[in-house]
Amino acid sequence: MKAKGLFIVLEGMDGSGKTSQLEHIKRYLNEQQIDFLSTREPGGISVSEQIREVILNVDNDMSGLTECLLYASARREHLIQKVIPALQAGRIVICDRYVMSSLAYQGYGRELGKAVLDINQLAIDVDGQQYWADMNIYIDVKPEVGLERIMSKSGEREVNRLDLEALEFHHRVHQGYMELSEQHAERFVMINGEQDEQHVFNDIKQVLDTLIQQYHV
Ligand code: TYD
Repeated sequence: MKAKGLFIVLEGMDGSGKTSQLEHIKRYLNEQQIDFLSTREPGGISVSEQIREVILNVDNDMSGLTECLLYASARREHLIQKVIPALQAGRIVICDRYVMSSLAYQGYGRELGKAVLDINQLAIDVDGQQYWADMNIYIDVKPEVGLERIMSKSGEREVNRLDLEALEFHHRVHQGYMELSEQHAERFVMINGEQDEQHVFNDIKQVLDTLIQQYHV
């Protein structure tokens, strides 16, 4: 059975302001009295939060492929236990990161290429249906801008294992998002994250309003 809800994913480089924008989105939907489920990756359910700790722990060393498989494992279980039931109940799901993050970070950042797509196609296939997001809202900032924001806020937000990667890694991730925005144009909208916070949210709000109208959720 095709899930009838609306699956929206927020994507962006580290330091893109995604977390603040999620707060704006939640406040806006609450004000409109629109029912939604907000969740995140990696995590969102107990098993996946435990996998998250393993992946992001700065003391852990692992190969890119192991990292990719761990993200995919966390993703599949979160999808089965939390996302699909909500979609099948006709709800809007707002997820902080999903498959595009793996394609950008592991595919381009770790240079694992097509293997990441293959692994993820398997991970998001449930009962013969692949659960792609209906829309990826990608907040774009240049890698230097994102990293600068993270480092200046390091007191408020814990710096994780991926933040510590070299600038070239973040450049490859950014290039990845650019290419993915073309390859998946029908489910990808790019928002300029270098504007001030309110302008970024205004752009996101327009996308949300259109989606909600289209899907009649
Ligand atoms: P998090 O602290 O949630 O960062 P952010 O607030 O930027 O989302 O950590 C998630 C990190 O995991 C982030 O650096 C992106 C990375 N990531 C991947 O590399 N692949 C993935 O599939 C996902 C979901 C996240």
